[in-house]
Amino acid sequence: MFKDQVIVITGAARGLGLGMAKRFARDGAQVVITDIDQVAGERSAQQLRSEGAAAQFAPLDVRDPAQSNALVEQLAREKGRLDVWVNNAGVAYKGPAETLPLNEWDQSIAVMLSGAFYCAQAAGRQMLAQGRGVIVNVASVGGYKYIEGRVAYSVPKAGVIMLTQALGIEWAKRGVRVVGIAPGVVMTEMVQKGIDEGTARLDLYERRTPMRRLGAVEEIAEAVYWLASDEASYVVAETMIVDGGWTAYQLF
Ligand SMILES: NC(=O)c1ccc[n+]([C@@H]2O[C@H](COP(=O)([O-])OP(=O)(O)OC[C@H]3O[C@@H](n4cnc5c(N)ncnc54)[C@H](O)[C@@H]3O)[C@@H](O)[C@H]2O)c1
Repeated sequence: MFKDQVIVITGAARGLGLGMAKRFARDGAQVVITDIDQVAGERSAQQLRSEGAAAQFAPLDVRDPAQSNALVEQLAREKGRLDVWVNNAGVAYKGPAETLPLNEWDQSIAVMLSGAFYCAQAAGRQMLAQGRGVIVNVASVGGYKYIEGRVAYSVPKAGVIMLTQALGIEWAKRGVRVVGIAPGVVMTEMVQKGIDEGTARLDLYERRTPMRRLGAVEEIAEAVYWLASDEASYVVAETMIVDGGWTAYQLF
């Protein structure tokens, strides 16, 4: 479905973003892995290429709008198209609201909310000019339901859900679909770090999930793949929850 299409994924050096890159690459897409971590990003792109995929790495700190603008311009010049942009980059600071270091708050907003908007604006301009394109914003169940100590994470994620509504509505009639995904808990470095630091517990995550297991990277990638495809042509301004039942579940 995505053969030769240009797919850009932010924060794709590892974790969910890398899983998405692999899924689109399977279709023969031209996948652009972007990340602030150049070493891991280059390594992941190289790994995909060694498996026969058309993957490249482009450094991108989503906090800097000049960088996302420059990347979009470069891709338009070199490839003449931009089909899908996934706003996936994220950081997870945890701590009580009253003592949360303000730089952790600022970073969370900068990466996950402002970063998503800057990238969507840059990608959206190109897609509007083309009259075609899809932007997928990665939110979280944390944007709907609050876990204590996650103020820096949940608030920007809730903002991302509204960003998807806002841009989805603004651009719907001009051929650009903006959609979102809200994953439940998936074991990536982000989640492992919380467990290692003692701010999260695997058994509680499992108990909180009606399916009694964490999600797989591939299960999130598959949902993003579908959302970005023409199969989802009437889905717009919507954030799809993919969480093993987490959000629906009233645990007591
Ligand atoms: N893993 C989960 O359980 C889970 C659940 C819900 C939502 N999410 C969301 O999915 C996305 C991916 O999460 P993950 O679990 O793969 O995390 P991860 O930590 O494994 O990967 C996140 C990537 O984002 C990159 N990044 C951080 N700051 C950046 C910046 N300023 N510019 C560009 N890249 C930057 C990191 O270098 C890293 O490669 C995040 O938005 C996260 O909030 C994850």
